[in-house]
Amino acid sequence: MALTARVVVGPMRPEDVPAVHEIERLSFSTPWPAHAFEQELKGNRLAHYLVARAGERIAGFAGMWLMVDEAHITTFGVHPDWRRQRIGRQLLLNLVELAVTIGAARMTLEVRPSNEAAQALYRTFGFEVVGRRARYYTDDHEDALVMTTPALADPRMRELVDLERRRLSG
Ligand SMILES: CC(C)(COP(=O)(O)OP(=O)(O)OC[C@H]1O[C@@H](n2cnc3c(N)ncnc32)[C@H](O)[C@@H]1OP(=O)(O)O)[C@@H](O)C(=O)NCCC(=O)NCCS
Repeated sequence: MALTARVVVGPMRPEDVPAVHEIERLSFSTPWPAHAFEQELKGNRLAHYLVARAGERIAGFAGMWLMVDEAHITTFGVHPDWRRQRIGRQLLLNLVELAVTIGAARMTLEVRPSNEAAQALYRTFGFEVVGRRARYYTDDHEDALVMTTPALADPRMRELVDLERRRLSG
């Protein structure tokens, strides 16, 4: 579905959870239940969640935990109707900028080797594969690739973020 409204990224609110959960359900084989998002928003001081709003609709969401100085991406999804329209890029840019603001030194995540779309998105922000966790996913026991960014303060990383910010605002 082509975007008709401007996409704006901001903090996830409790009233966003039903729409976020619907995207989660459409995106993952073992989706988090809605109450997991509610708990994250209410009770987890390490957690930071964003949504991409297109007019009145929630088009995507992303979240991370700040653990000491590492920002670990916990979940990330764009509604299937709205993919390939740079919403993922916009969310990830905002997540990286937020990670810098809250004092993260680098970012990390797990991704399925079969999930080439997500890996391609993460690579555009400097994430590289640094390891593999065997049989990580509980439903089908697929391994996970571990991807991390260079240090967020690294000039290469700053350049990538600046470039992406310019691209998305242009
Ligand atoms: C991965 C995901 C978040 C990407 O969201 P999106 O809004 O479609 O991504 P964007 O339009 O911003 O794409 C950014 C870049 O990612 C890559 N990419 C995105 N989708 C891709 C696909 N289907 N195939 C190959 N590359 C893809 C491309 O490099 C793309 O840049 P380009 O459009 O200039 O070629 C989305 O596909 C999704 O929600 N997937 C299901 C949930 C998921 O896998 N989450 C990640 C778990 S680790």
